[in-house]
Amino acid sequence: MTYDVVIIGAGAAGLMCAAQAGYAGKRVLVIDHATKAGKKILMSGGGRCNFTNLGTTPQHFYSSNPYFCISALKRYRPEHFVELVERHGIDYVEKTPGQLFCATSAKEIVRMLLTECEWAGADIRLSTQVTRVEEQGSAMRLTTSIGSIDAGVVVVASGGLSIPTMGASSFGYDLARQFGLAVRPTTPGLVPFTLSDQWKARASDLSGVSLPVTVSAGSQRFNEPMLFTHRGLSGPGMLQASSVWAPGEAIEIDLLPQQDAKALLHHAREHTPKRQLATWLMDYLPKRVAQSLCDWYPEGHDKQPLAQYSNTQLERWAARLNRWQLKPAGTEGWRTAEVTMGGVDTQAISSKTFEVCGLPQLRFIGEVLDVTGELGGYNFQWAWASGVACGQAC
Ligand code: FDA
Repeated sequence: MTYDVVIIGAGAAGLMCAAQAGYAGKRVLVIDHATKAGKKILMSGGGRCNFTNLGTTPQHFYSSNPYFCISALKRYRPEHFVELVERHGIDYVEKTPGQLFCATSAKEIVRMLLTECEWAGADIRLSTQVTRVEEQGSAMRLTTSIGSIDAGVVVVASGGLSIPTMGASSFGYDLARQFGLAVRPTTPGLVPFTLSDQWKARASDLSGVSLPVTVSAGSQRFNEPMLFTHRGLSGPGMLQASSVWAPGEAIEIDLLPQQDAKALLHHAREHTPKRQLATWLMDYLPKRVAQSLCDWYPEGHDKQPLAQYSNTQLERWAARLNRWQLKPAGTEGWRTAEVTMGGVDTQAISSKTFEVCGLPQLRFIGEVLDVTGELGGYNFQWAWASGVACGQAC
């Protein structure tokens, strides 16, 4: 078998790239070891796929080479993908400002990509293993479970390591190393935190309760909701924080974002001196969280009226409310992570064509690269943009 372009990975980036290369007149084959194309798209956004973010800028991405993503993101913008979605008659909704989701199902995005591939004449072979990729002069040869395939260009779109049960593998990283490319350390990103011992039990008691917070990890702050779970902490704020958190570090949670707890407590003691702390807290926090905080930090005072709190005690509570420190035990890891931080180092990759410098017949796109978006549709926008740039340049 001979193809101009063989793409390994029928996910978001691979399918987008296949359609573009096909429309450019190339003979294209997409290979995937999974039984279905676009499995991660299907499970994304709670089954509704947050397919882009209208506010996408390079600042929404983590990479050891922050300039790398600029060119592709500039050339293929969220409006371009929205135009494609509209052309295929897919209804969508804007949930949080800028975040676009399918109105009905993520299946429509996969169907759209498969239709584009079909129109562009790209072949797709699922349940197919690639066992070897080697240079053949200025082309490439693949050894696969369906035989040997010669390819003018091989595009690696095999994604990251998250959710192994969905087909994730280290294939792309191994191949990069085989061709002498560096791979930046990979860690799970956009993943819930786990807590240990008493904190795990406490979070579990509040499982399902969500509240708006500001969470700080490393040097970053995120203003988004937090959700207590049976294992620890999740919700958009915690998922975002997990991407920049270093194991062993504490995270800081502001339970009263944009409010000065010290001033509020002093005001409450002066104007409502007979109120109990727990009752006062319920004005600002979900009832169960307010009561639990008083149970966790009894200090023997929570049943006493606010009037009996000393300045030191009020300030201790204020610090707890505005700067609550918790040390996660870890994260839920690859099992539930939405993305992989790190990946194939972009220093040796062209940001215009995605070819490996000095080896233009090998290219890497999508999440396998050391480019990871924040939560909110940025990761798919990167998959589309890198797929289009590479597909048009093949
Ligand atoms: P992707 O992972 O999509 O595709 C890689 C493909 O390569 C897979 O089909 C896989 O089977 C195949 N493959 C792997 N190894 C192979 C091998 N050895 N041989 C052959 N094929 C191989 N992002 C976002 O922007 N909005 C959202 O709503 C969400 N939601 C979300 C939810 C959950 C639960 C997860 C896990 C992830 C998200 N994401 C997201 C992230 C998003 O899914 C992810 O960034 C993109 O799918 C990455 O696209 P790629 O095409 O690079 O990899």
